[in-house]
Amino acid sequence: MATIIAIANQKGGVGKTTTTANLGASLAELGQRVLLVDLDPQGNLTAAFGVKADSSIADALLDRARPLPVVIIENSQHPGVSLVPSAIALATAEAALMAKLGREMRLRDQIQAIADRFDFILIDTPPSLGLLTINSLVAAQVVIVPTEARFFSIQGLQMLQDSISETLYLNASLKVMGILLSKIDTRLREERAVSKFLRERWGELVFSTEIKTNSKILEAGSAGVSVFRYNGAGKAAASYLALAREVMSRV
Ligand SMILES: Nc1ncnc2c1ncn2[C@@H]1O[C@H](COP(=O)(O)OP(=O)(O)OP(=O)(O)O)[C@@H](O)[C@H]1O
Ligand SMILES: [Mg+2]
Repeated sequence: MATIIAIANQKGGVGKTTTTANLGASLAELGQRVLLVDLDPQGNLTAAFGVKADSSIADALLDRARPLPVVIIENSQHPGVSLVPSAIALATAEAALMAKLGREMRLRDQIQAIADRFDFILIDTPPSLGLLTINSLVAAQVVIVPTEARFFSIQGLQMLQDSISETLYLNASLKVMGILLSKIDTRLREERAVSKFLRERWGELVFSTEIKTNSKILEAGSAGVSVFRYNGAGKAAASYLALAREVMSRV
């Protein structure tokens, strides 16, 4: 049975998609069968692997007779990584979903149908606490919360915690697996201070692995590959590998 992880934070641009892509690729490097689910209408994760899809997750959320489209990523040399692509149609699907029965549970049911084919399923979510993000929290066993090391960014963590608490009505065993500093510039005193503050406030819940700000990570995203294919011997790849080991140890 797969470990199902939602990667969530309602704040935009904190590294949700980058974490999903590179953590997924590292888990695959460690021999795990990985499915990445793009639940963001922006489709950044789909683009991050250079996938152009003709069917998207939107259809499967609105019609239970249509299975999740699972695409094997071929062009980007990521053996062991599959993707459920998104498209902008997901934005209108979210609005249509509001009127449907079982609207919060639809992703869970679709994922359950294919979960035994994978060891890890990572769900990338949009920057909101709307129905799509709630679907990811209901489908998941655990949440990873990527955050920047800025005081403005960590103010929203309590709000996310409240949404997670509300979701317990539908998914009583949901837990936060960890908070990840996904983009930290340790040369800046403010960022070091935020890291220290987070560790004092949330303790062990903060992953000991931190992902430093690194231009290779940005470039890999633009090139449509993971940081492993872009610069496998670099520090960024090593950090994501360390994160993957930490994730596996927390399962
Ligand atoms: N450690 C890092 N070093 C350098 N750049 C990074 C790092 N992590 C993420 N980025 C860059 O920061 C930008 C935002 O990251 P990303 O798209 O992953 O955030 P997001 O939380 O998914 O955003 P959104 O809320 O819009 O979905 C991207 O350009 C990405 O390449
Ligand atoms: Mg994103």
